[in-house]
Amino acid sequence: MSLSREQMLVEMGITPIWVLRDTEPSTPPVEAAVVEVEACAPVPGAAPAIAPEPAPLPRPAPAVALRPISPVNNLGWPELANQVAECRACQLCEQRKQAVLGVGDLNPDWLFIGEGPGAEEDVKGEPFVGQAGKLLDAMLAALDIARGDRVYIANAVKCRPPGNRTPEAAEMAACRPYLERQIALLKPKIIVLLGKAAVHAVLHDDKSLATLRGKRYEYAGIPMVVTYHPAYLLRNLPDKAKAWEDLLFARRLLRDAASPELPF
Ligand code: URA
Repeated sequence: MSLSREQMLVEMGITPIWVLRDTEPSTPPVEAAVVEVEACAPVPGAAPAIAPEPAPLPRPAPAVALRPISPVNNLGWPELANQVAECRACQLCEQRKQAVLGVGDLNPDWLFIGEGPGAEEDVKGEPFVGQAGKLLDAMLAALDIARGDRVYIANAVKCRPPGNRTPEAAEMAACRPYLERQIALLKPKIIVLLGKAAVHAVLHDDKSLATLRGKRYEYAGIPMVVTYHPAYLLRNLPDKAKAWEDLLFARRLLRDAASPELPF
């Protein structure tokens, strides 16, 4: 199926109304105070300098307290779902209404990985049900797929970060075994990382998305691509065309994987 740019924009729900994702005001990040100590030469004739009290060290940002989780490598879906529902590995469990494991076809071609549940997802227990989810559904429709049919949708973290803040690296690391187990059970043919947090969680790369997109990555032999998060696309119209290019690239990789070229 080849869509004109206009058709694609309509398919992706880009026109005519732009709705920003609901975000709660979040507290601005607190920068760690840096204390600079200058070396001073003593003034002649002056009273001997009394060694000043050493300045207190800047306090490190509060660490994310992590509790170990029991291994998930051998769990099937019901056990994995139970363990995620009960998970208390990091502080995100304290304010969640429920953990959000993921949704979709358990034998998918596509796996989309986002950041973490927002307010609506936290209530409904399903990923991407808010405005960003509507755009994601439109992106799927443009690819001729639908939520639940050949596609599974998951997140880097399973519990809502308060105020929809970006999950901390430690929170993503704590949740990573669940995502790894999901990928092992799903065996998707293509993985699409939506936005920086998913890239950080899976690729461990902090480069800009502009630098990372358009390339083929692999996770356990599964081809993987990087694109913009739908919530970002809701605010950045010009990048939707780039996201569409990324999806077409992913679809090519999926098709190549399904029918690899003969070596002669
Ligand atoms: N954003 C995400 O990354 N995931 C969701 O489930 C919802 C919004």
